[in-house]
Amino acid sequence: MRRAFPTDKFEDKKTPFYYYDTDLLRKTLQTICEEAGRHEGFVVHYALKANANLALLNIISSAGLGADCVSGEEIEVASETGFPVEKIVFAGVGKSDEEIRIGIKFGIFCFNVESPEELEIINELAKEKGKVANVAFRINPDIGAHTHANITTGLAENKFGIYMSDMTTMIRKAAGLSNVKCIGLHFHIGSQILDMDDFTALCKRINDLQTELDANGLSVEHINVGGGLGVDYENPDANPIPDFKSYFDVYATHLQLRPGQKVHFELGRSVVAQCGSLISRTLYIKHGKQKQFAIIDAGMTDLIRPALYQAHHKIENISVPADTPEETYDVVGPICESSDVFAKQTKLASTRRGHLIAIRSAGAYGEIMASGYNCRPLPKGYTSDEIGA
Ligand code: LLP
Repeated sequence: MRRAFPTDKFEDKKTPFYYYDTDLLRKTLQTICEEAGRHEGFVVHYALKANANLALLNIISSAGLGADCVSGEEIEVASETGFPVEKIVFAGVGKSDEEIRIGIKFGIFCFNVESPEELEIINELAKEKGKVANVAFRINPDIGAHTHANITTGLAENKFGIYMSDMTTMIRKAAGLSNVKCIGLHFHIGSQILDMDDFTALCKRINDLQTELDANGLSVEHINVGGGLGVDYENPDANPIPDFKSYFDVYATHLQLRPGQKVHFELGRSVVAQCGSLISRTLYIKHGKQKQFAIIDAGMTDLIRPALYQAHHKIENISVPADTPEETYDVVGPICESSDVFAKQTKLASTRRGHLIAIRSAGAYGEIMASGYNCRPLPKGYTSDEIGA
């Protein structure tokens, strides 16, 4: 069944814009809280980088999630939208002094530290303020996740994290510094991961590492396993809510925790992807020599994922009944780049100028990655609450 969009409420809106179904978001959050809640010590943070639309952030913080931030600005926005500072973690391979100061000022839960030099800087800046900053070490577990090369992060060749072999040295180094306290280990192997075996592999690495820490008489209170759970871009209506049960179960089954240890998750895409669609209009149908193009008013400036990662998003003509005969199109945007293509040779209910086109599963890494290239205005985001749908 195709999802019903409130197209009558879209008529007075300037396209392209993002539309967020808050019912689906709330159901997704409820599932997350139920499934994580079944396991002792599981704490879920929302990765703001996936979407920092303020209305969505308010809903997500109300559900009780913490925040995973990657810039000083994200920390400020998270705090303004109701995420308690003691539930904010701050990651990133290149935190500026200014950003570290913001984290220290807010008294966030933890800095995820990526290098020995960063550890020293955090210690120095915390000392200036007479504070002790909690830190976790981001470990590069050297695990290849089965996902697009641009969004794997846990391989030795990636810029992220500290090598496992340097771990104990880092923990000892932190113990010798007066204004940082090492409270945990942090991992993240990549994004859009649907093969649960990848997460099992991560658990095994973490177990090995903990054994090594035990042998050195070291321990941590928190294990942060990052995010990465994927969503079904092919069939958003069949699978609107990702498989959180299997995801949390993998960690509950395979992670060998020490008494009292907490497990933190940083979920982005799986929280918000399916509730969002980019709504656009068909501008022209152009009959090329070999193909027919549906030229729409949304471009790679509004949703860059297809151009950047060859990502697939389902595209629907929502101005006509679902059983309208289909035609084959290249669905393209107006930007002066050949990569401004949403789909090649795709089947779409026959479209003409003025039809509304929904690009589905666009709630994560969509609006937030929009740019002003070609001097285009940034797309607005409306929730179903706001437009009364
Ligand atoms: N934690 C860390 C340290 C991360 O680097 C990321 C995402 C997350 C958590 C959240 O991961 P998620 O649950 O969303 O998979 N722009 C790309 C995705 C980049 C992901 C970057 N890191 C895309 O559109 O596919």
